[in-house]
Amino acid sequence: MNINWVRQQFPVFNQEKHNMVFMDNAGGSQTVGLAIDAITEYLTHYDVQLGASYATSEKASEKLNQATQNIQTYLNAAHLEEVIVGPSSTALVRILSLCLAQQWQAGDEVIITDVDHEANRAAWLELQKQGIVIRQWRINPGTLELKTNELLALMSKNTKLVCFTHVSNILGSINPIKQWTELVHEQGAIVCVDGVAYAPHRLLDVQDWDVDFYFFSTYKTFGPHQAVLYGKRYILESLPSFNHDFIQTSPYKFQPGNVNYELCYAMGEVVQYLCDLGADQTDTEINRNNLTQAYQQIAEYEASLLQPLLDYLNSKPQIKIIGNAQSNPNQRVATLSFVHETIDSKTIVEQVDPHQIGIRFGDFYAVKLIDHLGLRNKQGVVRVSLAHYNTIEDIDKLIKVIETII
Ligand SMILES: Cc1ncc(COP(=O)(O)O)c(C=O)c1O
Repeated sequence: MNINWVRQQFPVFNQEKHNMVFMDNAGGSQTVGLAIDAITEYLTHYDVQLGASYATSEKASEKLNQATQNIQTYLNAAHLEEVIVGPSSTALVRILSLCLAQQWQAGDEVIITDVDHEANRAAWLELQKQGIVIRQWRINPGTLELKTNELLALMSKNTKLVCFTHVSNILGSINPIKQWTELVHEQGAIVCVDGVAYAPHRLLDVQDWDVDFYFFSTYKTFGPHQAVLYGKRYILESLPSFNHDFIQTSPYKFQPGNVNYELCYAMGEVVQYLCDLGADQTDTEINRNNLTQAYQQIAEYEASLLQPLLDYLNSKPQIKIIGNAQSNPNQRVATLSFVHETIDSKTIVEQVDPHQIGIRFGDFYAVKLIDHLGLRNKQGVVRVSLAHYNTIEDIDKLIKVIETII
C-alpha cells in the first residue's frame, strides 16, 4: 500500500503544523478529502429538495442515486432498495427493532450477545416490554469466544432473530458470521449483524455471508457522521412502514423525514476513494474488484503495523492483551485492547495524552463485555485502534511513550 498517497488523500495530515497521531479510529476515523469536498459540492450545486421536475432537483436526485449505488457496491447488496441510510447505527437498529417487533408476539425470542456494543443489544432488550423473550449468548471468559454450540443450545422454535457483532470493538477478533448465519437460517430464524468495527478494515459482502441485516457507521469508515443498514429486500418488503403510512417502499419507509443528502453523497465518495486506492490511481471505476484490492492492501498493511505493537505488549509481563494476541489478519483487525497489572487504564491513557497521541480507555459501550470480564475496576481497557493511514512511526512513538509509563 502506498502510505504516502493514502495520507495525501486525508486533508488532516496535510496541514502545516499537524503532529497528532490518531489511534482512536474505532471511535471515529479521519475523513477522506473526497468526502469533505463532496459535502461542499453538494451544498453548493445541488442543495434543493429531491423529486421535483426542475433541472437542479433532477440533478440532485441523480447525484444521490449514484452515491447510493456506490454504497450498494460497497456492501455488495443485490438491490438498491436494500440500502437504508440514517443518522447512526444506534438509530437504525432501533427503527429496525420497532418494525420487526410488529410482526412478533409475546413469547417470541431474540438472542443477543454480551460481546456486542449496546447498539445491537439495547433496542432488542427494550422489546421485553411487549413480551419478547431475550436470551443472552455469553462469551467464554477463558477463550474470549462465542461458542457455536452454545448458540444452538439457546435456539428454540420461537427464536425469530439472532444478533451478533462481526468484530468486537474491544477484542478485535473476527467472528465467523457466515457460518453462524447458516446455522441460524437452518433453525428458521434471521440475523442482524453489527459491522461497525469490521467495515473500516475488511471488504463487506452481504450476499456471500447471506446476512439478513448488517449495519455500519460511516464516520468510522473515513466518511461523515451517518450510518447504513443493509436489509434483505424480501424481509424489508414485508415490514411495516416507519414513515408516513402512504410511504410503503424501501428504503424510504425506514427513513422518516429526509435523510442527510450531503452526507449520503459524501459516503459515495468514500467508496470512490477506496476504489482509487485499490486501483492505484485516481477517479477509477467503482467496482468490486477495486474494492477487493483496496481491502487486501489495508488488511496486509494494518497487520504490519499491529505486529510490532503486539510484539512489544506481549513482551511485557505486566500487560495483558484482552483478545487475540497474534496479528493474523484472518483472525483479527487492528483494534487492540489491553490492561496493566497495577496501573488502571485511565491513568495510562491520561499519561499518553500530552504526547499528541489519541488513544482511549473505557468500556466503549460494550458494557456487558467489560463487566463480565471483570474489568470495570480497571476503568475498562486501554484501546489502541489503528486505521490504514497510521504509520510505523506512529507505532514507534506510541511504544516509546508506553515504555515510560509502565
Ligand atoms: C461496534 C460498534 N457498534 C455500534 C456502534 C454505534 O454506532 P453509532 O454511533 O453510529 O450509533 C459503535 C460506536 O462506537 C461501535 O463501535
